[in-house]
Amino acid sequence: MSAPVAIVTGGAGGLGTAIAEVLLGDGFRVALLDRRGAPEATDHFGEPSRVLGVEADVTDEESVRAAVGQVDATWGRVDALVNNAGIEPQHSLAGLDPAAWQATQAVNLTGPALMIKHCIPHWRRLGGGRVVSIGSRVWLGGATAPSYAASKAGLVGLTRTACRELGALGVTIKRGGAELRAHPVERGEGRRGVRRGLRAPVRRRLTAGQARGTG
Ligand SMILES: NC(=O)c1ccc[n+]([C@@H]2O[C@H](COP(=O)([O-])OP(=O)(O)OC[C@H]3O[C@@H](n4cnc5c(N)ncnc54)[C@H](O)[C@@H]3O)[C@@H](O)[C@H]2O)c1
Repeated sequence: MSAPVAIVTGGAGGLGTAIAEVLLGDGFRVALLDRRGAPEATDHFGEPSRVLGVEADVTDEESVRAAVGQVDATWGRVDALVNNAGIEPQHSLAGLDPAAWQATQAVNLTGPALMIKHCIPHWRRLGGGRVVSIGSRVWLGGATAPSYAASKAGLVGLTRTACRELGALGVTIKRGGAELRAHPVERGEGRRGVRRGLRAPVRRRLTAGQARGTG
């Protein structure tokens, strides 16, 4: 069997790049999907045959359709999806800007739903697939930005609902990221800290042979 293929949204960014490193280490070919900097981000890995940069906006359905199609046209399969792209505009409720609210829901919640939608035909063909959507513990309280907390709470509902529809297709879908209390880069631990923090949760949820169940 040819090596499995994973798409990592927000793959040109901090955690996305670290997730890609973990997946490459576990034998995946990885498509870094990002609205900016994706082709340049592939240079970091030095493995042009196993890393693909795909410019796309997860909030735009045509862009998502084209991006997933580009991955399939390049490698002939799409096995796994990591919904990692996210934004967190800072605001209070008193200072709520509807445009910022909608942009947050569009990237953090509509994006994952559109990505899942356009991967489904590929998982049907393969007889299964895997999804991890990067959430955050802030949906339980303690977030400074209500739009972000609401979007991550929505991701819980999306994941649980998706289990019902995708389970029948043999797709495992999980939410991750609650472990990521603060970005290890911000804590001064650098990229090794990010990789260390992500390795176990990503492997547990995504790597073939280790992922179990849905939810
Ligand atoms: N950093 C943390 O401490 C932390 C904690 C818990 C969860 N998370 C979650 O982890 C994920 C990644 O966080 P990060 O800190 O690496 O963020 P980041 O800002 O460093 O990277 C996010 C990436 O997403 C991309 N992106 C944004 N909008 C996009 C769009 N419309 N289409 C395609 N790509 C888009 C950006 O270009 C960027 O490369 C987010 O979902 C975030 O909510 C982060």
